[in-house]
Amino acid sequence: MPKYTLQVNGQSRSVDVAADTPLLWVLRDHLELVGTKFGCGIGQCGACTIHVNGVPSRSCMTPVSTVGRMKITTIEGLAADATKLHPVQQAWSELDVAQCGYCQAGQIMTAAALLKDNPKPTDEDIDGAMAGNLCRCGTYMRIRAGIKLAATLTPATGGAQ
Ligand code: FES
Ligand code: FES
Repeated sequence: MPKYTLQVNGQSRSVDVAADTPLLWVLRDHLELVGTKFGCGIGQCGACTIHVNGVPSRSCMTPVSTVGRMKITTIEGLAADATKLHPVQQAWSELDVAQCGYCQAGQIMTAAALLKDNPKPTDEDIDGAMAGNLCRCGTYMRIRAGIKLAATLTPATGGAQ
């Protein structure tokens, strides 16, 4: 089995897995980072969204062999420091955005990347950026409000890497 040394949440982590193993399963099953969720497995729901070099990426569709030394950030490493919440997480908490919560790590990762690129997004910007993240509980209006609140909490550089 090939060995891969990944850069995850600021740490080097080594795993022995097949080259085509989706990053999602490496994170969850080998590195015990279970905040990233499996929804559809075919790139359609956004539950598995992480950042790869700061770009929101579907970990269910990302073979481990393709990431090399790119920076992987999961929901566990989104905040700049483990004792703090990222502004998006803070806003989500203040507004009770989550319902069942299953989709929310992916929502938060996509929202954080949006705010990093666009600190004051319009409703249209938000709807466009978040369109690929599905929520079976229908929390879309609270997600939009959460992103707007997060935009006021800090410069949107936040901890997103
Ligand atoms: S589990 Fe990856 S997009 Fe649905
Ligand atoms: S909060 Fe339940 S799926 Fe989104």
